[in-house]
Amino acid sequence: MKRFLLTVLGTLSLAVPAIATAAEPAYVGVKTCTKCHDVQGESWAGTAHAKAFDSLKAGAKTDEKKKAKLDPAKDYTKDKDCMGCHATGFGKAGGFAAGTEPGGAKALGTVGCESCHGAGGGYRDEHGKAEKKLKKDGQATPRKTLVAAGQNFDYERACGTCHLNYQGSALKGAKPPHTPFTPAVDAKYKFEYDKAVRTKALHEHYKLKGSFEGEPVPKVRAEFQKTAKDIPE
Ligand code: HEC
Ligand code: HEC
Ligand code: HEC
Ligand code: HEC
Repeated sequence: MKRFLLTVLGTLSLAVPAIATAAEPAYVGVKTCTKCHDVQGESWAGTAHAKAFDSLKAGAKTDEKKKAKLDPAKDYTKDKDCMGCHATGFGKAGGFAAGTEPGGAKALGTVGCESCHGAGGGYRDEHGKAEKKLKKDGQATPRKTLVAAGQNFDYERACGTCHLNYQGSALKGAKPPHTPFTPAVDAKYKFEYDKAVRTKALHEHYKLKGSFEGEPVPKVRAEFQKTAKDIPE
């Protein structure tokens, strides 16, 4: 009975958002993703992205702020010119809202999973479904199902919306609020995707079982999967 109810609820939760928010799936937050992807979650928690909101606090990163002509004594945690890149889905459906607890139930006060993988309201249920299908029928699900549900596979573009959002960068359509940390402030802020995606700014990679198949395969997938760790039982 319990299982039956869960199935019914699962089906409902799939059907409702698909109709209500087909155009723009809602952000669900890190904690929903890490219920299943705990290993990526643990690794991500140690990255600068997971702590990005702290940099907005008064007294944090004083020297860096001075160099970028920001006021180190100012509290920027509710500043709309900052939250778009230091939190997840600021101003969007289900995303971070000014003044809410950054580490709250959805932990949106971070550069979280969905900052790179896309708002999860539409695709997160597809993941569990695909795993079940693989186990039951040995069949993989087309990856384009995920794209249709709002999952992002163009990581380079996602990084760029934060790292290259300043005037004169390579990002097409850069618009304010811009990042204050540009190569003009310090050469170390120059963003090169091919280098950056291979640093400890990203979570570690774990072996996938192949629940999904077909395009779009992320450019770095094969390389990362070659050295990916086994998920502990
Ligand atoms: C109900 C459990 C569950 C939830 C919740 C979930 N996932 Fe997944 N996810 C899976 C499973 C299972 C797979 C398939 C893994 C495999 O093939 O080994 C997967 C696959 C993926 C993949 C790889 C897809 C591909 O191209 O093959 C990414 C990236 C991912 N999940 C990110 C996320 C993010 C981000 C969230 C939160 C918005 C999330 N997942 C929520 C279970 C889940
Ligand atoms: C939502 C905005 C956002 C996205 C998307 C994003 N980043 Fe970042 N990234 C940040 C912020 C903000 C910081 C600074 C964190 C802090 O406050 O210290 C950062 C820091 C970094 C750093 C420096 C880390 C360190 O340890 O000093 C690297 C490298 C990096 N990101 C790479 C990437 C890559 C690669 C991608 C895409 C796969 C990406 N980022 C996507 C906002 C973003
Ligand atoms: C368009 C996206 C964007 C906006 C808007 C933005 N940031 Fe950031 N911020 C970044 C990125 C990306 C980094 C990481 C730069 C790197 O390490 O290459 C960063 C890094 C930082 C850092 C750490 C720098 C370091 O060297 O450790 C601080 C502090 C910071 N931002 C504060 C702010 C404040 C305050 C605001 C608002 C006035 C703001 N940011 C607005 C994207 C943004
Ligand atoms: C800064 C961007 C960024 C953030 C934040 C991020 N990821 Fe990823 N993720 C990537 C990239 C890049 C890959 C490697 C490309 C691929 O295989 O899809 C990846 C791969 C994955 C995969 C495929 C298997 C693996 O381990 O490589 C899963 C599952 C996943 N991420 C889940 C998550 C979850 C859960 C979170 C949050 C706790 C998260 N990611 C946060 C960029 C990010």
